[in-house]
Amino acid sequence: DVRTEEKDLVIIGGGVAGYVAAIKAGQEGLKVTCIEKRGSLGGTCLNVGCIPSKSLLENSRIYHQINHDVKNRGIDVGDVKLNLPQMMKAKETSVSGLTKGIEFLFKKNGVEYIKGAGRFEDQNTVAVDLNDGGSTAVRGKNILIATGSEVTPFPGLEIDETKVVSSNGAIALKEVPKKMLVIGGGIIGLEMGSVWSRLGAEVTIVEFLGAIGGPGMDAEVAKNIQKTLGKQGMKFMLNTKVMSGDPSGQGVKLEVEAAKGGKAQTLEADVVLVAIGRRPYTQGLGLDKIGLETDSKGRIVIDSEYRTKIPHIRVIGDCTFGPMLAHKAEEEGVAAVEYLTKNYGHVNYNAIPAVMYTHPEVAWVGQNEQELKEQGVKYKVGTFPFTANSRAKTNLDTDGMVKFLADAETDRILGVHIVGPNAGEMIAEGTLALEYGASTEDVGRTSHAHPTLSEAFKEAAMATYSKAIHF
Ligand code: FAD
Ligand code: NAI
Repeated sequence: DVRTEEKDLVIIGGGVAGYVAAIKAGQEGLKVTCIEKRGSLGGTCLNVGCIPSKSLLENSRIYHQINHDVKNRGIDVGDVKLNLPQMMKAKETSVSGLTKGIEFLFKKNGVEYIKGAGRFEDQNTVAVDLNDGGSTAVRGKNILIATGSEVTPFPGLEIDETKVVSSNGAIALKEVPKKMLVIGGGIIGLEMGSVWSRLGAEVTIVEFLGAIGGPGMDAEVAKNIQKTLGKQGMKFMLNTKVMSGDPSGQGVKLEVEAAKGGKAQTLEADVVLVAIGRRPYTQGLGLDKIGLETDSKGRIVIDSEYRTKIPHIRVIGDCTFGPMLAHKAEEEGVAAVEYLTKNYGHVNYNAIPAVMYTHPEVAWVGQNEQELKEQGVKYKVGTFPFTANSRAKTNLDTDGMVKFLADAETDRILGVHIVGPNAGEMIAEGTLALEYGASTEDVGRTSHAHPTLSEAFKEAAMATYSKAIHF
């Protein structure tokens, strides 16, 4: 059955990109339909990504702190036990509260929500195989593809989500593994590795490159956080490539060797986490039916206004270019709708922050030192360590630093890199500074409340154009 009413906008995918665009479109008075096949809204981020991982990170951190770091604070505790099913329940409560919240926002903003899998019938028609059985079809003047991404598999090692897991399985393990091997020392590997290490697993990260952190992390910061995570018990094998895996025994065996070639070595663990990146997901969409192509990395090709070569079909979020981050997808959701209603949308791709929610957190925005060197940009550096910050001292939480990179001549901020407690919140100030084209002196001459961690931010700015006071 084809619905007769033609919508202004039909959105395929109800993840962060798609649901934000749907709400924005509803607010702008467009007739909008959002098609999502998962059975709940919010996509990877709310269901199996950002939200459940942060719930586990917070609660595992509290558990770890009670076990290792309260005696010296004057708190004696008795028998501390992990209740993993309850920790998982707390996670599920956060997830379901938020995903249901989006359904409410859809109703509030007049968004039609169809539960099912969408595929192109023609350039204006999306057929939907409904989750409850049967099918329908929706016609749209404009169509927005927001189908997201999926884990990149490791060739030859099948993910069963119990012994060999992706992040989907890593947020839902039934018990704490004795040993966990992580293929890939990027954001997922370090966040989920932190969770299980804090809960008692012996975690080893196997990373192909010579540094952890994945793309974008400043090299000095990457070294700094590696040292701290190492102190917490995580082990690292850098410059190491995984050749093959064998899950046929009781645990899983991985054959590894030095990245540049060398003697092979066999590692064993109860659980292996595959975290070597994510790739765009466009399966079953029927792109070929309407003549749309993907590039060598599977991304749907678009112009600067998110248009495909069929101008009324746009693409945003993880399934196209740019960092695979929820807040990037969200900005694009708003901008794509504004291109429709106002002919202009704004996303500053130079000012999209990145945060790794380990403890301490790592956060950055703008360019890192490696990139500036490669581009031959003349820059100056200012840093401030949390050991010299009064609040970090009272919190007994002093690992890390703030680092500013600024143009050597104009003092304009080019990048901010933080490893430290609350870095993920603090980076918002750096992002705002970058967005407004601020200099380090603008930040250094702005009053910051005392005693706060943010004073380290101010003093690192001061150290860039002049000198810090407390270090
Ligand atoms: P998705 O969220 O993947 O949503 C796409 C949706 O489209 C899915 O729900 C899918 O079911 C649906 N879909 C696909 N095809 C169809 C179809 N044919 N018909 C109907 N529906 C369809 N980012 C952050 O910024 N911060 C974090 O802390 C963070 N943590 C993460 C932790 C993990 C473990 C993972 C895996 C990712 C994390 N991310 C984080 C990344 C973030 O989840 C993604 O960048 C974000 O979800 C992208 O949004 P999206 O809407 O483009 O895609
Ligand atoms: P990633 O790209 O961050 O890191 C993958 C790492 O695996 C890299 O360091 C890479 O060098 C390494 N690698 C690749 N192939 C390898 C191999 N064969 N052997 C050993 N190492 C190998 O990807 P990750 O961690 O899977 O995360 C995917 C994406 O999800 C992130 O890039 C990010 O966009 C998003 N995400 C964001 C989070 C956040 O914002 N806090 C949290 C989790 C995920």
